[in-house]
Amino acid sequence: MDMKEQAEVMTPPKMELSLTINGANYELQVPPTKRLVTILREELNFTGTKISCEVGRCGACAVQMNNQLVNSCLVMAYQANHASIITIEGLSGEELDPIQRVFLEEGGFQCGYCTPGMMMAVHALLATNQAPSEEQIQEALSGNLCRCTGYGGIIRAVQKAISNNNQK
Ligand code: FES
Ligand code: FES
Repeated sequence: MDMKEQAEVMTPPKMELSLTINGANYELQVPPTKRLVTILREELNFTGTKISCEVGRCGACAVQMNNQLVNSCLVMAYQANHASIITIEGLSGEELDPIQRVFLEEGGFQCGYCTPGMMMAVHALLATNQAPSEEQIQEALSGNLCRCTGYGGIIRAVQKAISNNNQK
């Protein structure tokens, strides 16, 4: 078997992948083991979702899949077929999402690389618990690593979002 034939044997055939992303439908052909984060960033240009550790440890690639927070570097195409995905681009319309606004007001980021994943995690937390304690906030963000801010501004931002919600 020559090298070209070997490469063909080793490359899995592409699958038809159907996704809903931020409310819009997408159909594409990808290898079944292609990672969701790569599909989002490289095939569909949703580059707000970041990639860093690639092994599920940093949360930079966090998105919602069928209303669950997932690290999209750990999700293969075949696992995401027919799923509904929300990325950071899906949080805001013409105006900033309330979580984005409080991160801005409280200095919840510096380089911003971890920020989309952090915000997705905060959304997932507040969807299930509208008045989390500081300990619960820390636990909810324990899968999201930030190399810049020291977390103080991030926790303050989440607490401000909670306080804003309570004043409505
Ligand atoms: S890049 Fe996915 S968890 Fe780090
Ligand atoms: S703001 Fe830079 S990694 Fe978090």
